Amino acid sequence: MRILVIGSGGREHALVWKLKQSPRVTDIIVAPGNGGMAREGVRCIDVDVSDILGLAKLARSEKVDLVVPGPELPLTLGISNAMTAAGVPCFGPDRYCAQLEGSKFFAKDLMGRAGVPTAACAVFEDADAAKAFVQKRDAPLVVKADGLAAGKGVIVAQTTQEALDAVSDIMEKRAFGEAGSKIVIEECLVGEEASLLCFCDGKTAVPLASAQDHKAAWDGDKGPNTGGMGAYTPAPILPDDKIEEVTDLVIRPVLAQLAKEDHPFTGILYAGLMMTADGPKVLEYNVRFGDPECQPLLMRLQSDLVDIMDACINGTLEPSLVAFTPKAALGVVVAAEGYPGKYNKGMPITGIDKADALGDVKVFHSGTSLKDGEICSSGGRVLCVTALGDDLEAAQKRAYKAVGCIAMPSSYYRSDIGQKGVARLKKA
Ligand code: AMP
Ligand code: GLY
Repeated sequence: MRILVIGSGGREHALVWKLKQSPRVTDIIVAPGNGGMAREGVRCIDVDVSDILGLAKLARSEKVDLVVPGPELPLTLGISNAMTAAGVPCFGPDRYCAQLEGSKFFAKDLMGRAGVPTAACAVFEDADAAKAFVQKRDAPLVVKADGLAAGKGVIVAQTTQEALDAVSDIMEKRAFGEAGSKIVIEECLVGEEASLLCFCDGKTAVPLASAQDHKAAWDGDKGPNTGGMGAYTPAPILPDDKIEEVTDLVIRPVLAQLAKEDHPFTGILYAGLMMTADGPKVLEYNVRFGDPECQPLLMRLQSDLVDIMDACINGTLEPSLVAFTPKAALGVVVAAEGYPGKYNKGMPITGIDKADALGDVKVFHSGTSLKDGEICSSGGRVLCVTALGDDLEAAQKRAYKAVGCIAMPSSYYRSDIGQKGVARLKKA
């Protein structure tokens, strides 16, 4: 089987790593890929993730049997529709379903139709009306740009002034471009966050193990929001024996609703949850694997990922196809100093092989390139150093030992990935 993976981050490196383990796979190509994948002998072809026609042409000319889009952008641009039209199976939802991630308004509206618990909200297309609404409500409030904004379009405003500024930044100054033509203003939920991802075949949802991301840049959840500075699985806040119940609450009703609307959802449906005192509530949906949640999750996945993806596309998904090791896994992101703001590229990186050689460790490349055979940084998030362990604490220890093997000038990482989970387990 020949597979085309789309994307260039740590998530896509993990997908390539896992797909390569399938005996059914003969060849994997990645568009555009990165240095880490290239170094492992995977063919990287320079087609942009937003070039839907170029990607469809590539899939046809390379005679691929399966396309696996990593990031949300090609999905919201209709990569699945394009691949289906080209006769190539694609693991991901169509453009209609991808609006669950591409439009906060669409997601909120669908949650309403499907009866999924989420924060109360109001939607505005006019800045003055939004500001008048903010004035009438008590802070804190959460202000969200409707469209895709690379994880930056959400402002948790602690004061009325911050909320007014957020409305102005998003709607008037168009800080996130057209993504800000509409905004959603939400009640602020309180609790610990968890990620629940499910494989979906249009009618059946099979949950993966639970995971937790770390969105803030610095230790103690301080600092600006990032794409994610580390993740681990399982997340003790969402234990194994609660997963089916939560899937019934936040995933299956959405699947049933989309099927009713003649757009059965195929691929990964990911619910970002706030575990509140009133139960789990949905913060957002993603229509793809999370990055970096994907890296530790795939390290724990024992089943053949190609078999699962095939079953999702063919409508034959069943729980027996999806098995995880009871071990825990944890990934620490090594980022360039300054990320998520301005940062330097081209930093040399050493020690990756030493880290990989520790055993039960895999260094996934998020933003690297290959220069004269050497690995250099080429992005804000550079590596996701991921390890397995008998329990969360063991995985954490091993991941940080592996991080200690790696040297890169002007880099930083959080030193508390997994700490909330470890503390919760100790308390229990
Ligand atoms: P989103 O992209 O919608 O998941 O939002 C990004 C982050 O903003 C989430 O991971 C939460 O930390 C925070 N957030 C979003 N919505 C809310 C809310 N209603 N209440 C509290 N925090 C929120
Ligand atoms: N790690 C969160 C996301 O991928 O959206």
